[in-house]
Amino acid sequence: MRTSKPQDARRIDTLIERMSLTEKLGQLTMMAASHTVTGPVITGHSSDDIRSGRIGNLLNLIGATAAREMQRIAVEESRLGIPLLIGLDVIHGHRTLFPAPLGEVALFDPQAWALTAREAAREAAADGINMTFAPMLDVSREPRWGRTIEGPGESPWVGRRLAEAKVRGFQGADLAAADSIASVAKHFCGYGAVTAGREYASVDVSDRTLLEVHVPPFAAAVDADVAAVMPSFTDLAGIPMTAHAGMLRGRLRRELGFEGVLVSDYNAIAELIKHGVAADLVEAATLALRAGVDIDMVSGAYLEGLPVALERGDVSIAEIDEAVRRVLALKMRLGLFENPYGRGATAENASAIAGRRRLARDIAARSIVLLSNRDEALPLAGAIRRLALIGPLADEPGEMRGPWWCAAEPEAQTGVLAGLRSALPQAQVLHAAGVGIAGPDESGIAAAAELCDGAEAVVLCLGEAATMSGEAASRAHPGLPGRQRELAEAVLRRAGAKAIPVVAVLFSGRPLIVPWLAEQASALLAAWFPGCEAGGALADILTGCTSPSGRTPITWPRAIGQIPLYFGQRSSGRPIDPAGPFASRYIDESNEPLFPFGHGLTFGRFNLSGLRVTPESARAADSVEVRVDVENRGGRRAEETVFLFTRRLKSRVAPPLLELHGVGKIALDPGAHGTLTLHLPVAELRSLGLDLQPQLEPGAIEILVGPSADPAALLAGRLQIVE
Ligand code: BGC
Repeated sequence: MRTSKPQDARRIDTLIERMSLTEKLGQLTMMAASHTVTGPVITGHSSDDIRSGRIGNLLNLIGATAAREMQRIAVEESRLGIPLLIGLDVIHGHRTLFPAPLGEVALFDPQAWALTAREAAREAAADGINMTFAPMLDVSREPRWGRTIEGPGESPWVGRRLAEAKVRGFQGADLAAADSIASVAKHFCGYGAVTAGREYASVDVSDRTLLEVHVPPFAAAVDADVAAVMPSFTDLAGIPMTAHAGMLRGRLRRELGFEGVLVSDYNAIAELIKHGVAADLVEAATLALRAGVDIDMVSGAYLEGLPVALERGDVSIAEIDEAVRRVLALKMRLGLFENPYGRGATAENASAIAGRRRLARDIAARSIVLLSNRDEALPLAGAIRRLALIGPLADEPGEMRGPWWCAAEPEAQTGVLAGLRSALPQAQVLHAAGVGIAGPDESGIAAAAELCDGAEAVVLCLGEAATMSGEAASRAHPGLPGRQRELAEAVLRRAGAKAIPVVAVLFSGRPLIVPWLAEQASALLAAWFPGCEAGGALADILTGCTSPSGRTPITWPRAIGQIPLYFGQRSSGRPIDPAGPFASRYIDESNEPLFPFGHGLTFGRFNLSGLRVTPESARAADSVEVRVDVENRGGRRAEETVFLFTRRLKSRVAPPLLELHGVGKIALDPGAHGTLTLHLPVAELRSLGLDLQPQLEPGAIEILVGPSADPAALLAGRLQIVE
C-alpha cells in the first residue's frame, strides 16, 4: 500500500496518542455480523462493542441500511469516531453473480476480469461494504481441493494477470471513491498445495516451488497496490502462516514491499492452538502480532490475549501501534474519515442493474469450455422441435451460483431449463432430473431415459452441487457424485440406439474425472458455475448464438492417480521412451491428461502457421514480438485463443517443460485470416538460479505457440538470449 500522506500520518499519530489499549485492540479486531444474506443481525451486544471501541471492523453485514447504522454507531457514538471496515466475500459478484472465479479465468481476458470486479465493487459499495476478501490467488494443480474453484487454476502467470486485473477492478482508480472497495489478496501462501488436496491440511513445498509458483500472484497484487492480504489457514513446513514471521514480515513485507494491512483468516489466530504452536489465546495473539498480522478476524485473541501479552512483555505497545497505524491508514485511504456514509448512500438504478445482468450473460457464455464436439453435434439445429433436457442440474437455478453467493438470492438466478425454453420458443423442451445430484436413488432413471425417444437431441446436465466445491469441500473421488453415472449411461444407451446426439454439460468447481463420459458423449461442455445468467448463457452456446471461446485454466486428469498433473512439470532423466520400460510413467494409465491446460474448442476451425520471432536474438531489456498467422477454415465466426509458451533448452536448474508467457485472442469470420502479435518482454524469461535469485541465462529458448498446452499442437520457434 502507498505510504500515507504526511497530513494523514500526523492525524493517525494524534489519534493513536488518544487511544486506550481497548480502543487500539478494537481497531485490530474484525467481528462477524453473523449473517451473509439479509438484514441487520448484529446483536445489541456487538453494537455496544462498536460504541465502546472494542470492535473496530465488521464482516458479513449485508444491506445498506444495516451497514449505515453500524457505521453511524462507530462514527457518531464511539469516543473517537473511527469508522469501520466493513468486509464481505464479494468473490464473483455481490447481488449479480458472474461465473465462479475458475470459470471466469477460462476467458483468459484480463479486461473482462477487471470489469466484473469493478461491477461487483459498485454493487457491494452500494450496500455499504468497503472491503472484499478477494481475489483468491492460490495456484491449484489439485482437483481434489475444493477451493480450486476460487482461484486462477494451475498457472502462476495467469495468477499474476488475475491479481492485477482484480485489484484494479475492485479498488478502481481511487480507493477513496464511493464505488471502490479495498481488495484483500488471499491466501498467502501455498494453500493450493495442501497435502493430497485435503482442505486445511499441511503444506510442504520447496522454496523453489513457493517462489516460482505460489508467491508470484501475490507479488503482482502488491505491485498493483492491493490494500490488504490474508494469510492462509495452513502451515508451511510446520509453521502456520498466521504465525509465520519469515513469510509475512520477511517475504511479503520486506521482500515484496507490502505496506498494507494483514487480516487473518476466519478464527485463524485462535486456531494456532489447534495447530499446536500456542498454548492459549495469549500465546496465539503474541505469535500472530509478532508475525505481522494486523487484524484478528473473529477469534477475539487480540482482545483477550494482547493485554496479558503486553503485561508480560511478550509484545510491545509499539508493535500494537504499528498494526493500528496500518489499519487507520487504510481507513483514510478508503476516504472513510471524510465520508463514512459515501458507500451505501445511493441505491443503484434499474438500468445499471440490467446492464450488469447482460454483462453476466456475456461473461458466463464466454466462460463455458467446449471440451469435445463429435460430428459437430453442436450447435443444435436452429429448427429443433423436440429437445430432452435431463439431469439433476437441469433445473437448479440456485446451484448455478457456485460456492460463494454473497447477497444473490436463488430466485434471481436463471437455470438451464428456463434459459433453453426462452431461447427455443418453437421447441418442446422435455425435462426430467432422473436422479438427485447426490444420493442413492435410481428410481427416476428409466423415466428420464425415455425422454430420449422422439427427441432430436439430448442435453444432459450433470455435475456437482455448489456446496461440493469451495471451502471445506475436498473430494477424494472427484467424479460425478451419487447415481449420475448410472443416469448418464442409461441416457447414452437409449439415445445411442437411435443415433440421437447427447450433449453433456458439466457444472463443477473443478475438473471432473470422467474419461468414460468424454468418450461417449457427442459433445462435452465444462460450464463451471456460471452465475445468475447460467440458463441464458448456456442456451447462447448450445444454439450457436455465441461461439464457445472458453479455455480450461487447469489440466483435466483422466485418473485420480495422475494428480498433480500440470503443463509446467519438469522433464525427467527418463522421459517416456517407446523403446524401454524404465521411464517416468504409469504401468496402468497413460501420462496424458484427459484435456490439457488451455484446451477448448470453438465453432470455427482454426489453423495456425507462420510463427515469427523478432528479433531472434535479444537482451534483458528488449521486448520480443511473436507473430502467428491464424485462419478460420470453419463455417462460422469464432474466436481463437493462442497461448505463448517457452521452454528453456538448457539451464543449471532443470527447466519446466512449458512456461506460459502470454495469451492472445483473435475473432475471425469463416474463411478469414489475421495475424496475432504477442509481446514478450525478455525480462519475463528470468528464472530462479541455483541460489533462488532471478537470473537471465544466455542461450537458446524455444518459443512455442498454439491453442493449448498439448505439445503436438504447438508451433516452435527460437529465441537466443545474449548478454
Ligand atoms: C475463508 C476466507 C474468507 C473468510 C471470511 C474463511 O473461512 O477461508 O477465504 O474470506 O472465511 O468469510
